[in-house]
Amino acid sequence: MKLIFITGGSSGIGQAMALAYLQKGWRVALVARRLDALQSWASQTVLQLQLPSDRIGVYGADVQSPDSILHAAEQCLALMGLPDVVVANAGISWGVDTAEREDLDVMRQVMDTNVLGMAATFHPFIRAMQKRGFGSLVGMASVAGIRGLPGHAAYCASKAAAITYCESLRGELRASGLKVITLAPGYVATPLTERNRYPMPFLMSADAFAAQAMRSIDKGTRFQVIPWPMGLVATLLRCLPDVVFDRVLQGRPRKHRHVER
Ligand SMILES: NC(=O)c1ccc[n+]([C@@H]2O[C@H](COP(=O)([O-])OP(=O)(O)OC[C@H]3O[C@@H](n4cnc5c(N)ncnc54)[C@H](OP(=O)(O)O)[C@@H]3O)[C@@H](O)[C@H]2O)c1
Repeated sequence: MKLIFITGGSSGIGQAMALAYLQKGWRVALVARRLDALQSWASQTVLQLQLPSDRIGVYGADVQSPDSILHAAEQCLALMGLPDVVVANAGISWGVDTAEREDLDVMRQVMDTNVLGMAATFHPFIRAMQKRGFGSLVGMASVAGIRGLPGHAAYCASKAAAITYCESLRGELRASGLKVITLAPGYVATPLTERNRYPMPFLMSADAFAAQAMRSIDKGTRFQVIPWPMGLVATLLRCLPDVVFDRVLQGRPRKHRHVER
């Protein structure tokens, strides 16, 4: 039975993807800092779907600490085996104003979680997958990684880095039969977006996102914006000359800072 390893499985997109893969007959290994949230979701879900309890493994870890995620991966390898798919999905989105000293610390946390946390999630599986000759590594990026948005410097920079990190890795691993898939969600209704104070075009449910993500992973798509209308926006954003981009964004509301929650 196939196995998927998902970080950020205690909420939002990670949880919706876990459910979609369980319904498809896979085993799922879930990671997050809140182990209690993972455990209660897992026990409810096995009851609801009438599954044997060994279909879900839960591991508490903080992706900001390579040793912590490495330990979770080792536990998963020992108890459940080598995954077919690894999804580095754990992420945080906090607005920053880098003229404020404290926001430098916020920016570091965003980079550590969204960029280094992604590399640390893939790390423990790469050599074993290369030896086996197949496997998919899925990086959860964002449309926000395509251009820099006001107030969103930390998040946009982290997601731009995630996109290029995955692109580098794709080139490195292609010859050994591994796929690296970058998913770039637009707006998905999860706890991460619920406090946003600006319009969120093409907002979709986490379940609808998970269904489309699963299709992209199945196909081994290199880079996929979800939903597709946001893909058109992303293409336009990429091509827009800086002078036009600046004008479009002028006066638009900025992402609020972490302390303004
Ligand atoms: N929602 C959107 O519109 C949207 C758009 C573009 C991209 N994304 C990306 O999609 C991914 C999932 O976001 P979401 O919307 O589902 O957000 P969410 O509901 O807030 O879930 C984030 C998940 O990441 C986990 N997490 C955060 N920091 C972690 C850490 N240091 N170590 C381990 N786990 C950690 C959280 O669990 P714990 O708190 O229990 O650790 C939670 O399970 C993120 O990478 C996000 O940037 C989302």
